[in-house]
Amino acid sequence: MSPAAPPNAIAITGASSGIGAALSRQLAQSGRVLALIGRDRARLEQVAADCRSKGASCRIGCLDVRDTARLSDFLDAFDREQPIDTFISNAGILDGRHADQEVEDGKTARLVLETNLLAAIDAVHMVLPRMRQRRRGEIVLVASLAALVPLPDAPAYTASKAGLLSYGVALRDAVAAEGIKVVVACPGYVSTAMADIHLGPRPGEISADAAAALILRGLRRNKDLVGFPLVPFWLSRLNLLVPEFMRRRGLRGARFHVGQNPPPALPRDES
Ligand SMILES: NC(=O)c1ccc[n+]([C@@H]2O[C@H](COP(=O)([O-])OP(=O)(O)OC[C@H]3O[C@@H](n4cnc5c(N)ncnc54)[C@H](OP(=O)(O)O)[C@@H]3O)[C@@H](O)[C@H]2O)c1
Repeated sequence: MSPAAPPNAIAITGASSGIGAALSRQLAQSGRVLALIGRDRARLEQVAADCRSKGASCRIGCLDVRDTARLSDFLDAFDREQPIDTFISNAGILDGRHADQEVEDGKTARLVLETNLLAAIDAVHMVLPRMRQRRRGEIVLVASLAALVPLPDAPAYTASKAGLLSYGVALRDAVAAEGIKVVVACPGYVSTAMADIHLGPRPGEISADAAAALILRGLRRNKDLVGFPLVPFWLSRLNLLVPEFMRRRGLRGARFHVGQNPPPALPRDES
């Protein structure tokens, strides 16, 4: 009898809500071990319960991804227990100009960049050395179509996602020969708690489940970029080629401001 296949281990940041929760539920199956990372313990427990009901085992990392020491300890312990096959960096925040502002403030810009870009790159470096030793692994970075469409209402968000996109595409080429896949996802509008605070038009919005399915299909196909919906993705790519005055004119109908972050549905517990 051939030995049982080792469990498939997947770590996901931002698993407590929206796209990350949908990815976790879709990945859940018997023989899988999922590490679910986020700040809200109660929502993580709920996602874990859903995943366990589909046969997966779950570990919960209730922490802030900007806390590099705690994230690194958690990922190291998980990798020692189950070598990580797939790491999905999905945690992110949207912030920018609020209704009473012309431009976002500096504190907001720093928080957005720390969460969406620096913490994601730090996390990659926590999992990459062991993947390189094993000469296998998959990394998914959830960026945004905003990476391709400079948003005057959220410049730091734009920069964080553009940075993540460039980083991911560059890293993909750097590690491909070592058997490691890097896939960058660029979702358009997705109906999640994040979209709820984007107070402006959200054309082409799709559900979190649909977004997760497209990201996982892109991962299975080892696509370098997974952009959706398709028409906005290609328009966004072309957008970078047109003269600035035309690009700016095209964006006029897309202005927005950011609403207050809704209070978390359940109390946070970062203990
Ligand atoms: N929704 C869209 O229209 C859209 C479009 C393009 C790209 N995206 C990207 O998709 C990703 C997921 O967003 P979403 O729409 O699913 O939003 P969401 O429902 O608000 O989920 C965001 C997730 O990120 C986690 N998170 C945020 N800051 C964190 C931190 N400092 N430490 C740990 N976890 C943190 C949240 O965890 P807690 O709540 O537990 O803190 C939550 O699980 C983000 O990177 C976002 O930029 C979203």
